[in-house]
Amino acid sequence: TDVLVVKTPDEAGEWVASRFTATIATRPDAVFGLATGSTPLPIYRALARQAAEQKLDLSRVRGFALDEYVGLPEGHEQSYRTVITNEVVKTVGLNPELVHVPNGAIDGIRTAGERYEEAIVAAGGIDWQILGVGSNGHIGFNEPGSSLASLTRVVKLAEQTRQDNARFFDSIDDVPTHSITQGVGTILRARNLVLLAFGEHKAAAVASAIEGPVTASVPASAIQLHPHVTVLADEAAASQLR
Ligand code: F6R
Repeated sequence: TDVLVVKTPDEAGEWVASRFTATIATRPDAVFGLATGSTPLPIYRALARQAAEQKLDLSRVRGFALDEYVGLPEGHEQSYRTVITNEVVKTVGLNPELVHVPNGAIDGIRTAGERYEEAIVAAGGIDWQILGVGSNGHIGFNEPGSSLASLTRVVKLAEQTRQDNARFFDSIDDVPTHSITQGVGTILRARNLVLLAFGEHKAAAVASAIEGPVTASVPASAIQLHPHVTVLADEAAASQLR
């Protein structure tokens, strides 16, 4: 696991975006695993800027979101379909038809995970998977206790995660109880992983992910099993590393 300590989130965003543009330059239909939340936003901004500067054609770039809430009405402003459309597809300028999000609708939820796995396989797998980390060590919405071999499936959100994400909703009661997420095993199949973390509230999770034992109790520790991982953390998030 390579660890880069950055001064600012924007520095991390520029570094990751430059790897992505290099990939797209040689393979215009490269496949990216997309995270939501606050952490990856600097990547999407930097990618838009660098792609414009390099006059890079993004029209064939493909994407797969990590996760989605279960049961939000279609078009809900906090559904990750909406968030991915607004913060990634529009910001970066991607073709919306090539960007997939797990289907969190109750109707069909029992087979949605399997269908998502099939779509990822049909795309030839994910080239670069972007990851944030939860303060409790989750990646995607794989909460502590998730099998390290898990695939895309419906999971119950940890209370900590619902509290952390309550900032996006009117009240914690409005935060969904379940989500559909790429599994830890799905994430490990991506050819390259980048995990970003900013702020002191991520320091314990970052230290356990990189230096702790590989354990389902800290799903982010599974990145130690992957041969091509870069962790980008600011000084606060890296402060508990030895
Ligand atoms: C988002 C996701 C989550 C977040 C994590 C950190 O798609 O899968 O694992 O990456 O909860 O969230 P932020 O970046 O908002 O601190």
